[in-house]
Amino acid sequence: MKLNSANINVMIKACRKASKILIRDFGEIEKLQVSLKGPGDFVTVSDKRVEKILIDELQKARPDYSILSEEIGEIKNNQSFRWIIDPIDGTANFLHGIPHFAISIGLEHDNEIICGIIYDPIKDEMFVAEKGNGAYLNNQRMRVSSRSKLKDCIIFTGGPKRESKDRELALKEYNNFSSKVLIPIRKLGSASLDMAYVAAGRCDGFWQRNLNYWDIAAGIILVKESGGFITDFKGEKEYIQNKTILATNSKINNEMIDVLK
Ligand code: IPD
Ligand code: CA
Ligand code: CA
Repeated sequence: MKLNSANINVMIKACRKASKILIRDFGEIEKLQVSLKGPGDFVTVSDKRVEKILIDELQKARPDYSILSEEIGEIKNNQSFRWIIDPIDGTANFLHGIPHFAISIGLEHDNEIICGIIYDPIKDEMFVAEKGNGAYLNNQRMRVSSRSKLKDCIIFTGGPKRESKDRELALKEYNNFSSKVLIPIRKLGSASLDMAYVAAGRCDGFWQRNLNYWDIAAGIILVKESGGFITDFKGEKEYIQNKTILATNSKINNEMIDVLK
């Protein structure tokens, strides 16, 4: 792999350590499916346990970096570097014993994401990218797909969450999209892996409303470094604040924007 930054090594090491616990806990979850109590509380504990390992490891290596992590929120420190962490992305899958979830860590420098790692521990797939140095899946260079017509594509989306204020709008968008374009649309349940799959050319585009920054921080750099585009639904500006994201192989970007209108 051409990625040799010390920060990437720190992220990989933290991820590998946390994933051991994640895999062990996933084994327990499978057993808990049949218990009367169900796996709900166990998942919450597991999420926090994985987050703690990640944070401990990252802090050990970079004591002065700030952190934004889903479960514990913000740890403010050095303002220019910040880890953005989602300890388990795809919790609903995890909870139901579906082996499709990931650890996602992004690193920001002066408000720009410069490194990202998304690790699927069950499939042992490590997606890594660094600004200017490309994106890799298990040490192999990744590229977005080359399909240029939406009619030939497979598209991912996710949500809406039950509590989302834009639920109706998101449902309308989905219905509108699927009735206009008769192509496979998939909801695999992990936004970070959705983006990693765009980067790896496994799917051609992904759209979703109301995401959190930790769902997509690492995915943003993966898609960009694989030759893809990240915009909002209007295609005008890059996602960060408005929580809607469109990630594509770049070739179908305009067509996606047209259809999402
Ligand atoms: C969720 C997943 C899911 C997406 C949701 C996210 P979580 O993250 O990424 O695919 O549709 O919007 O909240 O809760 O599993 O970390
Ligand atoms: Ca998430
Ligand atoms: Ca999560």
